Amino acid sequence: MNNFVYYNPVKILFGAGQIEKISKEIPSEAKILMLYGGGSIKSNGVYDQVKIALEDFDLTEFGGIEPNPTYETLMEAVKIVNEKNIDFLLAVGGGSVIDGTKFVAAAAKYQGDDPWDLLSKGAKVKDAVSLATVLTLPATGSEVNGNSVISRKSTQEKLAFGHPRLFPVFSVLDPQVVASLPERQVRNGIVDAYIHVIEQYLTYPVHAELQDKWAESILTSLIEIGPEVLKSPDNYHHAANLMWLASMALGGIIKVGCPEDWSTHMIGHELTAMHGVDHALSLAIVLPGVMDEMREEKREKLLQYAERIWGIRAGDDDERIDEAIKQTNYFFQRLGMETRLSDHNIGHETIDEIQKRFESRPGFDALSETETLTPERVKRLLESRL
Ligand code: NZQ
Ligand code: ZN
Repeated sequence: MNNFVYYNPVKILFGAGQIEKISKEIPSEAKILMLYGGGSIKSNGVYDQVKIALEDFDLTEFGGIEPNPTYETLMEAVKIVNEKNIDFLLAVGGGSVIDGTKFVAAAAKYQGDDPWDLLSKGAKVKDAVSLATVLTLPATGSEVNGNSVISRKSTQEKLAFGHPRLFPVFSVLDPQVVASLPERQVRNGIVDAYIHVIEQYLTYPVHAELQDKWAESILTSLIEIGPEVLKSPDNYHHAANLMWLASMALGGIIKVGCPEDWSTHMIGHELTAMHGVDHALSLAIVLPGVMDEMREEKREKLLQYAERIWGIRAGDDDERIDEAIKQTNYFFQRLGMETRLSDHNIGHETIDEIQKRFESRPGFDALSETETLTPERVKRLLESRL
């Protein structure tokens, strides 16, 4: 196991009825900006609960943050933060609203010319407005980490950044919000959380026994509970488990001391940036290709994954790996995802463009934990997903 520092300062308020407690978590003199998405919180009652909880506060609102939140929209919120001297941001929504709020938090305090540099040039976050979240969609883990992924309409880019200053102060996880989710978003949540675990697990062994077993237990729990939530999203106990699983998948605990490989995410982000494919769907399309292309580098962990997650014991090494890839793909398909590029009218042109982008973008010419996934190999693996 490699050396590590583990730090997660997010206070979690978990369970039914926790939204009303937020007034006790925010300083009474705070000037709050509440940020939300396209309006789902107005139809499922979350908006009213937050408004009642904060009735004694100085509260401004900013709605309209879109899925895969854009720089263009978020800069409008940055303007409000600066004009009104806002000093506390409350994100009420899914990963997009939370990520968008993190960008606003950092951009409002950014001293350089253009806050986009935080994403495109790796400019450092030196300060940020405090933020907290009320999560409405179990999926990304953004409620328990300091990461954010932002899109830019004008250039069709989707890039990530992060900083410890962007951890939420607190996050409310009330599983009752799952009941109003469309099936597509439940499915997305299950798959996104599953692939977050995979990106931190499917590398090479470092004798991190507990981390491996944590990862494996999240994967098997998602395989068991995911379809149950899809069948009955209003079942509180299933929803509560999915919510906790998704948070634990990307809250930092399973990766400590382990190598990570975020290749599937990096490639998937391009599909979303260019074609608007849902985040989780982009990952489900790409992952089987990464597993196959990287089978030499990931051989030992792939075999462990095959046996411990799918119970595959028969056949030689390559046959077991093939079967594990097949089972993974079936799992996504059983949840209702179409996992081929051609299912989404994506073809060679996009693949060539991704290769070109990765060749020229710093840090993208050698992806994976072994830095051996070159743009040429990315092209090959995407071609296998046509
Ligand atoms: O906008 P509203 O009206 O709120 O509707 C949303 C949106 O249309 C709806 N929704 C959310 N909660 C609901 C609900 N509808 C009914 N009932 C509810 N309770 O769901 C739609 C999708 O929401 P979105 O926030 O976009 O989904 P998700 O949580 O999957 O977030 C995806 C974004 O997170 C990023 C992705 O790249 C993508 O931009 N990620 C962030 C990560 C992080 N910060 O750590 C890691 C992830 O890998 C991911 O990259
Ligand atoms: Zn993800």
